Amino acid sequence: MSAVRLEPWGEDDLPLLRRLVGDPAMMEHLGGPESEEKIVERQARYEPAGSRQFKVVAGDEAVGWVGYWERGWNGDEVYEIGWAVLPAFQGRGIARAATAQAIDLARAEHDRRHVHAFPSVDNPPSNQICRKLGFTLVEARDFEFPPGSVMRCNDWRLDLLT
Ligand SMILES: CC(C)(COP(=O)(O)OP(=O)(O)OC[C@H]1O[C@@H](n2cnc3c(N)ncnc32)[C@H](O)[C@@H]1OP(=O)(O)O)[C@@H](O)C(=O)NCCC(=O)NCCS
Repeated sequence: MSAVRLEPWGEDDLPLLRRLVGDPAMMEHLGGPESEEKIVERQARYEPAGSRQFKVVAGDEAVGWVGYWERGWNGDEVYEIGWAVLPAFQGRGIARAATAQAIDLARAEHDRRHVHAFPSVDNPPSNQICRKLGFTLVEARDFEFPPGSVMRCNDWRLDLLT
């Protein structure tokens, strides 16, 4: 695998976002492809400096996204993290390497103690990434996502202080 690095998500990255979240195959475990309107909204959230959203670059190719954000969870203030890698670049350890780097950035903020990830129980690569990166499986839970349908997801938690 060529070196993986993260770059802040930029104003030129809308086409990459379309290929990631507008593709039915990519969004199989995430409620289906997003509309152009939703993708443009997402781009506007990702673009500002400090958004904690990153382009994943392998060699000199833009191949995916990783990002984390603040949320409340069971009365705690935590980070949630997510990731995606284009189909042609999957299966090479890129998502795992990129997610490890994003976790290092979250840890360096010295703000929130826990990072959670909520992959569908039917998403083996994402569950494997959590396992390999030292997350602890808390439990499987049903989420209403997208609105009107139920998705069973694993709640994985990583302690940034240990
Ligand atoms: C999930 C996703 C990011 C994985 O990207 P990737 O770069 O292929 O992942 P990696 O190569 O880093 O690691 C995948 C791990 O899952 C394993 N894996 C892949 N397919 C698997 C399967 N069907 N069953 C079990 N394990 C599997 C790989 O062997 C690897 O584990 P290893 O490190 O022990 O060898 C990619 O499939 C994707 O973008 N999917 C669509 C978006 C998505 O579902 N995002 C997750 C939201 S939580």
